[in-house]
Amino acid sequence: MSKEILKIETETSEQLYNYVNAKLLGLICEEPDPLANLANAAALLYLLLDDLNWAGFYLMREKENALVLGPFQGKPACTRIPLDKGVCGAAARTGEIHIVPDVELFPGHIACDGASASEIVLPLMREGRVLGVLDLDSPLRKRFSSEDGEGLLKFVETLHKYVAWDDLF
Ligand code: SME
Repeated sequence: MSKEILKIETETSEQLYNYVNAKLLGLICEEPDPLANLANAAALLYLLLDDLNWAGFYLMREKENALVLGPFQGKPACTRIPLDKGVCGAAARTGEIHIVPDVELFPGHIACDGASASEIVLPLMREGRVLGVLDLDSPLRKRFSSEDGEGLLKFVETLHKYVAWDDLF
């Protein structure tokens, strides 16, 4: 049986994220290596969500007080983001999801790819500690809604359950 993951048409955002999250579970639930799992998670989002030009992770390096580039899909990106910079830094600092409809209007936004017009960043938190962020960029303005936020929150919950974070740091 082929294990190829197909892009599908869905009627609602909830259906789409149910599919994405089921595929994520299938990819990571039996694999112990956290790097492999984050790499596949980024590839899955990039494949299945429409209108993205970047999807991936920045991981918290506490000694440096900065986020450092992790597994991703898209153009090469900036390697380090201090916590007081960018949408990623803001999400890591506050522990809150950031949905930015127009990146040009976000003070301090870091433009890794000039094509990015909107962005969503979810903090990856465990017991009050920031492990990193999940960052998605789109070439379309207003690409990300609160429904994307909800679907991706479930995605992050699945990551928390199956990714062996401690092996990454
Ligand atoms: N735009 C992000 C930087 C990371 S890239 O989008 C991949 C930010 O402002 O934090």
